[in-house]
Amino acid sequence: MTGRLEGKVAIVTGAGSGMGAAMVRRFCAEGARTIAVDVSGAQDDTARDAGANCVPVHADVSVAVEVESFVRLAVDRFGKLDIICNNAGIQGPLGLTADYAEEDWDRVIAVNLKGVFLGMKYAIPEMLKIGGGSIVNTSSMAALVAFPTLPAYSASKGGVSCLTRLTAAEYASQNVRVNAILPGAIDTGMTRGMPKEYLQGAIDATLMGRIGRPEEIANLALFLASDEASFITGTETQVDGGYTLV
Ligand SMILES: NC(=O)c1ccc[n+]([C@@H]2O[C@H](COP(=O)([O-])OP(=O)(O)OC[C@H]3O[C@@H](n4cnc5c(N)ncnc54)[C@H](O)[C@@H]3O)[C@@H](O)[C@H]2O)c1
Repeated sequence: MTGRLEGKVAIVTGAGSGMGAAMVRRFCAEGARTIAVDVSGAQDDTARDAGANCVPVHADVSVAVEVESFVRLAVDRFGKLDIICNNAGIQGPLGLTADYAEEDWDRVIAVNLKGVFLGMKYAIPEMLKIGGGSIVNTSSMAALVAFPTLPAYSASKGGVSCLTRLTAAEYASQNVRVNAILPGAIDTGMTRGMPKEYLQGAIDATLMGRIGRPEEIANLALFLASDEASFITGTETQVDGGYTLV
């Protein structure tokens, strides 16, 4: 039996932890050759777990030359690029809008929004060369509902959702599909770093009554990345246990 991503070449950012690490493990298990990008160093552990088809890369998604270089590496190493999951993200400090430090705002926007823009900017030309590709951007339920004290994070994710729709429209006729995943509260490094009462509040508001697992995000990323989703573009799918339903 062949894997659902057999023959595909993928890049996953934020691959050292949480959802990105789960995506890399799943993609490699399904036959993709995968570049695992992270700024933390933990991408090396993910790649070791994922096996011979995974190459770890240390890079910061907010720096254009670094993004350009890991896209080039995918093509040099594996001959093409079919898939990019622009998943790296940071929450930034909590704070009301009027108290929010400008440098914190700039960093969150740089990683979460500019990082997604740069990933698409350098990946799309490679996808066009091979007649198409799939881009999966990690947005958030924060793009849909208000999370007071997360102004930069929420704005960045609203931007990711908007940019996903726009880019999907721009490249649909050339078979580059662009979709967004909107996770709810998921058990990752990000949520483990939150104040306990903040996280508990999010879990209490989740209709399914529990926190999600990174693998539950990777399942959707796999589907959207694969040819099974060949007529799906410009979508935003909540994976949030019903948080945004009521
Ligand atoms: N965990 C949640 O509840 C939740 C909910 C909604 C959306 N998200 C989004 O999911 C995505 C994945 O986050 P996670 O929850 O797995 O968190 P995580 O902290 O476990 O993983 C994020 C990874 O991104 C990496 N990273 C951060 N800045 C980077 C940069 N500049 N360049 C490259 N890598 C960088 C980190 O080192 C880390 O390994 C993020 O975009 C996050 O905003 C998370």
